[in-house]
Amino acid sequence: SVEERVENLLSRMTLEEKIGQMVQGEITTTRPKDVKDYYLGSILNGGGSTVSPNTPEKWLETIIEYQNMAGSTRLGIPIIYGIDAVHGNNNVYGATIFPHNIGLGATRDKELVKRIGEVTAMEVSTTGMHWNFAPVLAIPQDERWGRTYEGYGESKELVTELSVAYLEGIQGVPSDKDFMHGTKIIGTAKHWVGDGATTGGIDQGNIILTEEELQYHIEPYISAIEAGARTVMVSYTSWNGLKTHGDHYLVTEVLKGDLGFDGLVVSDWNAHEQVHPEYEEAVKQSVLAGVDLFMVPDSWKEFIDTLTALVEADEVPISRIDDAVTRILRVKMEARLFEEPFPDETLMEEGTFGSEEHREVAREAVRKSQVLLKNEGDILPLSKDMDIFVAGIKGDDIGYQSGGWTIDWQGSPGNITPGTTILEGIKNIVSDDSIITYSEDGVGAEGHDVAIVVIGEEPYAEMFGDADDLKLSEEDMRLLQTVQQTDIPMVVILLSGRPLIITDEIEHWDAFIASWLPGTEGHGVADVLFGDYPFSGELSMTWPKSMEQIPIHFEDDDYDPLFPYGFGLKTD
Ligand code: IFM
Repeated sequence: SVEERVENLLSRMTLEEKIGQMVQGEITTTRPKDVKDYYLGSILNGGGSTVSPNTPEKWLETIIEYQNMAGSTRLGIPIIYGIDAVHGNNNVYGATIFPHNIGLGATRDKELVKRIGEVTAMEVSTTGMHWNFAPVLAIPQDERWGRTYEGYGESKELVTELSVAYLEGIQGVPSDKDFMHGTKIIGTAKHWVGDGATTGGIDQGNIILTEEELQYHIEPYISAIEAGARTVMVSYTSWNGLKTHGDHYLVTEVLKGDLGFDGLVVSDWNAHEQVHPEYEEAVKQSVLAGVDLFMVPDSWKEFIDTLTALVEADEVPISRIDDAVTRILRVKMEARLFEEPFPDETLMEEGTFGSEEHREVAREAVRKSQVLLKNEGDILPLSKDMDIFVAGIKGDDIGYQSGGWTIDWQGSPGNITPGTTILEGIKNIVSDDSIITYSEDGVGAEGHDVAIVVIGEEPYAEMFGDADDLKLSEEDMRLLQTVQQTDIPMVVILLSGRPLIITDEIEHWDAFIASWLPGTEGHGVADVLFGDYPFSGELSMTWPKSMEQIPIHFEDDDYDPLFPYGFGLKTD
């Protein structure tokens, strides 16, 4: 059995080999040879770290190189390679990029989310990677939080249902023969726990909740663990002032004890360093809290020396190290990494990476995630033979459509990976009789039948996305005003990771679509704009009227939003 094999292997390991297993280095600062010399158990690439050239083939070659080194160690324990493939295998050029989770929440479609998981797992395993740091189980309570879009929505039920569906898609279910291997991968429930509930929506902030209130945020983990989640990432946040990476109660007593989680607990990036100002104490407290695998991107030598000294001085009992290594080996064995450390290279040859078939799934997700919030005089769907003015640089840009975590950690404007922009989608769908005029700054709208104006947020990811003010940018306001002056009907599409404050502006618009961050398949937007498919999306977050209303939640007594949770106009 797995347990016997783990026990046997553990009994043959030296302290050096054990502590090496507890380390996850980062690809840009950890050479393949380091895996061999220091017995490192895992490698990741953080968002935005790529190989050169950034092709799926090069990724495959690189990961095989690391795995070869692991195979050449005394015990030949395979590495486990992790990536943030949070909306498709988004670090790799040419991948299929899906809508971010806030948009998937709007689809309310768990079967679709499961298929997205399946496609993601294929595009991750094709590149030789084993482990995806997803899904996010946060239940965002305050849209000032920059990571709001990584959550499926503000309700516990929605987050639970869709994250379980996603896990089943990427991992399969525990009774499957190919659970977590082959074209399936290992998922991560993150970030334990309550990351969506910090005061003021501050990233890595403090969660001021009673234990009973925190239970709301714990519940999706119960379902995720039941569904087979074998890794959990700890949150940078603090609960009532105590950093969770140093919180023995939350990590060991609640997660590993009450919830019975016997998979591995991984830290967030260098998060142990936040536990205590003195490095040694920080390492000690986080190991004792129950963190098993440490994401120490570049300072792993220091980490290894420190933890070794702590064990030798009896400050950290060897039983804790053995528990951590047992969990790591268990997950590696369950994922059959010992038997199949290398990817099936025929997957790459089959050409499914970024294929038309995969993009079709993403396109379906895009159209189902569009939420129609205003449709004066039933202006939508548009007819395909109109004279249409499309305005705004964001309407012709894969980077804006995709948002954070795509190729660059913080996301990046520009057509950074192959896909279809919203403008291209519109051009492809209209009839030959239609005239499409495109303008970046909105000048010249006069005389056309209708204007489609695409506005939105600049891309951002963790640490940089928090905002005190969620108003439209000056640039977008200028664009809107320029088009507005002409008096032609306006359809406004907003690309954003959260609701923005549009209460005054929406008065001037005939139609308004919350498009979220749809990813590479912009033609999904055109599908609903022109009525090939109906608008069916429903808000996964409440849309507030003003900043003063935030935080706003559908269970509030004085709930009076611009659009309530669940709202979305439907077309035929
Ligand atoms: O997985 C992520 C996490 O969500 C945020 N910090 C970095 C990790 C690895 O990139």
